[in-house]
Amino acid sequence: MYQTLLASIENGILVITINRPDKLNALNKDVFTDLDSALNEIENNPEIRSVIITGAGPKAFVAGADISEFGGLNKNEAMALAKRGQDIFARIENCSKPIVAAVNGFALGGGCELSMACHFRIASDNAKFGQPEVNLGLIPGYGGTQRLVQLIGKGRALELLMSGNMIDANTALQYGLVNYVVKQEELLAKARSILESINSKAPLSVAACIKAANAVYDETINGFDLEIKEFGNCFDTEDMKEGTSAFLEKRKASFKGK
Ligand code: COA
Repeated sequence: MYQTLLASIENGILVITINRPDKLNALNKDVFTDLDSALNEIENNPEIRSVIITGAGPKAFVAGADISEFGGLNKNEAMALAKRGQDIFARIENCSKPIVAAVNGFALGGGCELSMACHFRIASDNAKFGQPEVNLGLIPGYGGTQRLVQLIGKGRALELLMSGNMIDANTALQYGLVNYVVKQEELLAKARSILESINSKAPLSVAACIKAANAVYDETINGFDLEIKEFGNCFDTEDMKEGTSAFLEKRKASFKGK
C-alpha cells in the first residue's frame, strides 16, 4: 500500500516504519507522499487509536531530507519543498490521535524535525539528534528552527542550529527533547506500553489535550479560552458521564469516544 513505509496495526496502535534503510531512511518525495496518505488513514480509521513512527534498521530513525533531491532546485522550488514538509509535519503535530516518535538511531535534519512534530519522543541509547544543515549551507526547512526552540529553549537550540553538532540520547533526555532513553530492543515495547495506557483513556479528552497544548504555540488562539471551551465540551460527552460514574461506582471506566 505504501512505497516507502511499513505499516502494521496491533491493539489499536499503528506502527509506521520509514523504510529506506540503505539511505538511512532519508525523507524523499515518496516518503512525504506516503506520510500524507498515512495521516489520512490515521484520521479516518477508527481502528487506529494511536501511532508510533520509527525508522527501519538499527542505525537510523531518519538521517534527514534526501540531499540528492536538492540539486538544481531554485529558490521558489526550495520554498515549495519546505512548505510541503512543514504542512505534513503540522498534520502530525495537530493530529487528534497521539503520535510518538520511537527514535532508533540518527535523527538528523528532517529526521530531528519529524521527531519534534510528534507529540513526544522516546529514544534508544544509540540515538543521535542534530540539525546539521549549516554544514550544507542551509537551515532547517521543516519547522526545526521553531520546534527546537520550543522544546529545548533558545540557547541550547541556537547552539545546535549554528554548530550543526549532534547530541547523544542522554543529552537529549537532559535537554527534555526526549521523555525516555531505553535499550534499542526495548524501544517499541516502551512506546507501546505508554500508548496502551493512553488508549485506555477517553479519546475525546486525549484529543482535546493535544489541541490545548498546541494552542500554547499558536499566537492566533488564546489557549486559556480554548481550555475553557474544551472543558465545557467534555460535559456534553457520554465518556465524561461514564468516567465520573465509574469513579463513584469504584469500577473501571469503559470509554467509547462519544
Ligand atoms: N540524504 C540522502 N542520502 C543520505 C542521507 C541524506 N540525508 N543520509 C545518509 N544518506 C545515504 C548516504 O549517501 C549513503 O548512501 P550510499 O550508500 O548510496 O552512498 C547511505 O545513506 C549511508 O550513509 P553513510 O553516510 O555512508 O553512513 P555513515 O554511517 O558513514 O554516516 C551519517 C551516517 C548520518 C553521519 C551521514 O550519513 C550523514 O551525515 N548524513 C547526512 C545528514 C544530514 O546532513 N542531514 C540533513 C539533511 S538536510
